[in-house]
Amino acid sequence: MTNTTFDLIVIGAGPGGYVAAIRAAQLGMRVACVEKRALGGTCLNVGCIPSKALLESSELFHRAKTALGVHGVKVQGVELDLAGMMKRKSDIVRKMTGGIRGLFRKHNVTHIAGMARLAGDGKVDVEGEMYTATRILIATGSSEIELPNLPFDGVHVIGSTEALSLDEVPKKMIVIGAGAIGLELGSVWHRLGAEVHVVEFLDGIAPTMDRELSHALQKVLAKQGLTFALKTRAEAAEVCDGKVAVTRAQGGETTVETCDRLLVAVGRKPNTEGLRGEEVGLAMDDRGRVLVNEAFETNLPGVYAIGDVIPGPMLAHKAEEEGIAAVERMAGKAGHVNYDTIPNVIYTHPELASVGLTEEQVKAREMPYKVGKFPLIANARAHALNATDGLVKIIAHEKTDRVLGIHILAAHASDMLAEGVLAMEFSASAEDIARTMHAHPTLSETLKEAALNVSQEAIHI
Ligand code: FAD
Ligand code: NAI
Repeated sequence: MTNTTFDLIVIGAGPGGYVAAIRAAQLGMRVACVEKRALGGTCLNVGCIPSKALLESSELFHRAKTALGVHGVKVQGVELDLAGMMKRKSDIVRKMTGGIRGLFRKHNVTHIAGMARLAGDGKVDVEGEMYTATRILIATGSSEIELPNLPFDGVHVIGSTEALSLDEVPKKMIVIGAGAIGLELGSVWHRLGAEVHVVEFLDGIAPTMDRELSHALQKVLAKQGLTFALKTRAEAAEVCDGKVAVTRAQGGETTVETCDRLLVAVGRKPNTEGLRGEEVGLAMDDRGRVLVNEAFETNLPGVYAIGDVIPGPMLAHKAEEEGIAAVERMAGKAGHVNYDTIPNVIYTHPELASVGLTEEQVKAREMPYKVGKFPLIANARAHALNATDGLVKIIAHEKTDRVLGIHILAAHASDMLAEGVLAMEFSASAEDIARTMHAHPTLSETLKEAALNVSQEAIHI
């Protein structure tokens, strides 16, 4: 007979839920994880992983077509095999989600397939089957926001999920929203040959990033051929004869622009629909996010929540850290998430990576600060890579020299940022980074030079 009683039932097997389930099992709990779709959640199936697979493949295609000549490599007849590219992406997803299945087996986590509903008093109803647990962890994640006058039709007006699986390159794609999804998937289809036009409501792209660097990224992407309409609101879309007519409003003026595919990437909303949260009295805010305290406890005894379904940035690593901290707290340990050092990366080329405060945030807090910058063009490895676009910016406290924020626009910025996150986790000063020996020649030397330049002491500019 199947076991129906557990120490912990996790609802949702995304990076928040499946990691929490494994950690809880390591800590000795009897754990079940309920998932209504596929193990791995948004991230592994229709998010981080397939998008990064396509970003890598499309960048290679683009380079083979346009950027190898400078290395003295002549290539002719480069052709796109889109079906092959999509197959590779799907194979990676299959491998990664299969890995979770294996990890669940290894750690004795029970996988329950189906839609979970809160049934009160430690009970979870999975499609008519009742399970009980001492604790329940809601890790139901998020899904795409649909704009009222631009409903998805799955073919012409699409969200990120469809944009990861198109079977042909659109001639023209309009992207609504210049956040992470719009810029990453816009880059993918642009590299593969589409004309890509990005419409953004605010006056800059990547609005959560440091303004100086997001502006620099916009310039590089524009040089690559993407076009941007800022301070422009997408208002409606109409599909006619296989084309989408998009109505946009800018400064009181309304225009209509047509395209083959319209990608709507205007943010994500928490998944609480069908969970029966309201019925059992689960406290949520006006955006439907589940409210928790610092131990990830909701207002219902024994019910916890983490990841995209609670307030905070919607990022896989944030969900993972919260999942681990939540179950460690359940086990009486000192689980903790440092919300001041959440890395944030947009995987364009170059990548834009950030940790800590932006210059705008430091100013708004009226903190005395100093800035050190270093351009990629002054770095030898960047020349060897033919990747000289970008800069590193370090913001430090004027008096204590403590690092407040690190912002990197560079090829491989995502990997370079790890050093910055660790430095901030250990409350490093700019001088600590400046006096740390960095291997030569590496892109990471730009971090050292930017740190030196916080005191105007950079060597190579
Ligand atoms: P999810 O991954 O959304 O998982 C929740 C799971 O719960 C889902 O599998 C869902 O089916 C299941 N579920 C929901 N309700 C129920 C229910 N009632 N019963 C049973 N199961 C249920 N983040 C990054 O950090 N880096 C990136 O590069 C990145 N790229 C992204 C690219 C795209 C295109 C998208 C869309 C997102 C990307 N993200 C990225 C965001 C990242 O995917 C999310 O922040 C992350 O997946 C959140 O994890 P989670 O566990 O909270 O929720
Ligand atoms: P987002 O919130 O990052 O960006 C949406 C953008 O759309 C905003 O700039 C907003 O001003 C704009 N917008 C909203 N309505 C508009 C309208 N009517 N007209 C024009 N512009 C409009 O959301 P996005 O890109 O959809 O991503 C969702 C989540 O997924 C984010 O929270 C992000 O953190 C996560 N994600 C993370 C990635 C990464 O870490 N590399 C990659 C992809 C997604």
